[in-house]
Amino acid sequence: MKLVKLIANLGYGSRKQVTQMFREGRITDDAGEVLYADDAVAHARVRLDGEPLDPPQGLLLMLHKPTGYTCSTKDPGRVVYDLLPPRYRLRDPLVSTVGRLDRDTSGLLLMTDDGALLHRITSPKAQLPKVYEAVLGSDLRGDEAEVFGSGTLMLESEKTPLAPAVIEPLGPRRARITLVEGRYHQIRRMFAAVGNHVESLHRHTLGGLGLDRLPAGEWRMLDEADRARVFGGGGS
Ligand code: URA
Repeated sequence: MKLVKLIANLGYGSRKQVTQMFREGRITDDAGEVLYADDAVAHARVRLDGEPLDPPQGLLLMLHKPTGYTCSTKDPGRVVYDLLPPRYRLRDPLVSTVGRLDRDTSGLLLMTDDGALLHRITSPKAQLPKVYEAVLGSDLRGDEAEVFGSGTLMLESEKTPLAPAVIEPLGPRRARITLVEGRYHQIRRMFAAVGNHVESLHRHTLGGLGLDRLPAGEWRMLDEADRARVFGGGGS
């Protein structure tokens, strides 16, 4: 791919703007040689203002989503893209969220521009466990483990019952919930079905990957070992 297209697709600017960057000599190789718009040089060797480029297509990143941010590109309020460098929102292909967390849910959110990877993670066949912690408005009543684990719980306007979910009480109004699917507002609707409501919700792990100590609002690129963790065990 010609460099001008490669760099524009990474969101650094329109083709016209990137062409101007070439004219200004801002784009060089790793030895400092000025490059031209129609050169074809390996991504890893290209520098813009002396800095390496963002990762090529195929990235996977983890964001510690704070509450108050929407998993959308269009919402008029705060969106998760506001937490990434502005050019990430302009990349082609788009960097999308892997599933969604509600605006009022915090925790581990993956984002990728790799459609096949996104599908592998979110596919119901993958059965990747997602662990959440919920603070509830009322005391647990005692039968939640049975109801959520039954595999027969039907939520309003759904056509199939929920897959069995695991709940571990952590206190009278606090519980850890493990899901292997991701339906709309699932945990909030599950607790509504047993006469409770969720006051706050946080996702700790996805597959075997945990947030570790990543602070709220921060993100990091995932490497091969992290990717293996998503599909393996051992989240923290
Ligand atoms: N369940 C919910 O209700 N909301 C989320 O964001 C995730 C799971």
